[in-house]
Amino acid sequence: MNILITGIAGFIGNTLAKELSKNDSYNIIGIDNFNEYYNPEFKEENIKGLKIKLYRYDIRDFDKLKEIFKENKIDKIIHLASMVGVRSSIDNPFVYEEVNIKGTLNLLELAKDFNCKSLFLAQAQVSMATAKQRLLMKNWMLIQFLRMV
Ligand SMILES: NC(=O)c1ccc[n+]([C@@H]2O[C@H](COP(=O)([O-])OP(=O)(O)OC[C@H]3O[C@@H](n4cnc5c(N)ncnc54)[C@H](O)[C@@H]3O)[C@@H](O)[C@H]2O)c1
Repeated sequence: MNILITGIAGFIGNTLAKELSKNDSYNIIGIDNFNEYYNPEFKEENIKGLKIKLYRYDIRDFDKLKEIFKENKIDKIIHLASMVGVRSSIDNPFVYEEVNIKGTLNLLELAKDFNCKSLFLAQAQVSMATAKQRLLMKNWMLIQFLRMV
């Protein structure tokens, strides 16, 4: 089964990819644009050694995304690429709109065009959370994704 993970180099994406790669029947295809919302070196580190096919693309670019769907038969999409952070969304609302809304719409359209019937989306903003709460949230999300795939 081919699983496309967007935002694969991020906090949740890379952990999920590591877990899923333990199952030989899954081929993981990843997209990330390694943006500078936080240090991209952390993201490079996150994906080191992962058995994935990586596309350094931006989900806002419909034509680039389409290439991925042409090259691979995508069975499931786990959509984690997004702009996060409440404060920064107030300063740069249009970037958030483009990535979180247009980027998601691009994926939905391509899922429809290429007959991919399953797309999991995780977009939420947690404005007040301690490190422990964030870790709990991350683990809870990972468990939900692993159950769904
Ligand atoms: N971490 C949490 O506790 C938590 C809680 C609730 C919801 N979520 C949601 O889960 C998703 C992933 O969260 P995370 O903590 O892994 O975030 P993250 O910022 O670590 O990862 C997001 C990844 O998406 C990539 N990305 C951003 N814009 C992109 C674009 N235009 N094209 C391609 N890639 C792009 C970034 O480079 C980054 O690697 C987000 O939608 C977030 O809102 C996270």
